[in-house]
Amino acid sequence: MLGLASLLTFVSLVTAAPTAPVYSSCTVNSTSDLATAKKTCTSISIGSFTVPAGQTLDMKGLLSGTTVTFTGIVSFGYKEWIGPLVTVSGTNVKIVGAPGSCLDGGGARWWDGQGGNGGKKKPKFFAAHGLDSSSITGITLKNTPVQGFSISSAEGLVLSGITIDNKDGDNNELGHNTDAFDVGNSDDVTITGSTIYNQDDCLAVNSGTNIQFLNNYCSGGHGISIGSVGGRSNNVVDTVTVKDCTIVNSENGIRIKTVAGATGSVKGVTYSGITLKNIAKNGIVIQQDYQNGSPTGVPTDGVPITGLTIANVKGSVASSARGIYILCAAGACSDWKWSGVSISGGKNNCTGAPSSVKC
Ligand SMILES: *[C@@H]1O[C@H](CO)[C@@H](O)[C@H](O)[C@H]1NC(C)=O
Ligand SMILES: *[C@@H]1O[C@H](CO)[C@@H](O)[C@H](O)[C@H]1NC(C)=O
Repeated sequence: MLGLASLLTFVSLVTAAPTAPVYSSCTVNSTSDLATAKKTCTSISIGSFTVPAGQTLDMKGLLSGTTVTFTGIVSFGYKEWIGPLVTVSGTNVKIVGAPGSCLDGGGARWWDGQGGNGGKKKPKFFAAHGLDSSSITGITLKNTPVQGFSISSAEGLVLSGITIDNKDGDNNELGHNTDAFDVGNSDDVTITGSTIYNQDDCLAVNSGTNIQFLNNYCSGGHGISIGSVGGRSNNVVDTVTVKDCTIVNSENGIRIKTVAGATGSVKGVTYSGITLKNIAKNGIVIQQDYQNGSPTGVPTDGVPITGLTIANVKGSVASSARGIYILCAAGACSDWKWSGVSISGGKNNCTGAPSSVKC
């Protein structure tokens, strides 16, 4: 049954539609300009302004075929809340960052070293939830309070030439959980040609199919990750390709983490052409004992990892690090192809790995 409020909205939309002017091109200088523009414009230019504290730069429900171009610096007022600071949805949409443009989260105002685990409530930055046959190109995010891009329920989405610059979060280790790209419940997402400086996963795929992560540079974070997988509504990861990426000054390089005691599956993941430099904990880590906080040390078989390919992974880790760390439950890791892995510096520790793994 329609509630009264939604009925009124419906009636007003129906009655307003014939008289609403349609502009092809609109320049937006405030959040309220945007609210008007997105109903009538298919070419929106967003200049420099500050989004008021506690508000979202709301690009939800853009008209099909809309191009939004950021041309200036968008900043955000300070409030302790969960965000997001920016949201977008639609079909056949292009979001473009012109050279010199920036979405500046001013994250230092929230950073307290605790990320999403406590302390100040911090807004997530950029929600791309329900964005189909669309692209996000050339956008720069600076100093995200906590996670950067959240990609969910997307189908046919390309992000290219993205910059996330959270270097300031390294000061006194105050930036935390500043994941660059969290991907879940999506099909056919490509992230390419991007440069990331952060303090958590460069990529984290919790679930989804046909995810590509190509030609990206990741610095300062926790590595390029599948997972954690398990304990959500969708716990299937199927076909992820990570290719031609560089990971430097990070805790981990390549990482697959499945949640202890959970169910799901990870299949068809390929990492190839990966360069590692100055990795503090693990060059390659694949663990089936994950839990937030600290791993249990006891792997479980509810989220099998099958059809994994690791090819041409080169570089070095710290002498105190593990080059390769694998912790699989009996029979829960199978059909792995392993070639051209050459990681210097650390020691390896492999439990439950298929015999193809050179450890
Ligand atoms: C935004 O500013 C530009 C440049 O000053 C102006 O042309 C445009 O009309 C403004 N947009 C709105 C919706 O007021
Ligand atoms: C190897 O890893 C297992 C599982 O975490 C751990 O129990 C064991 O102590 C490690 N061995 C060495 C030599 O570090």
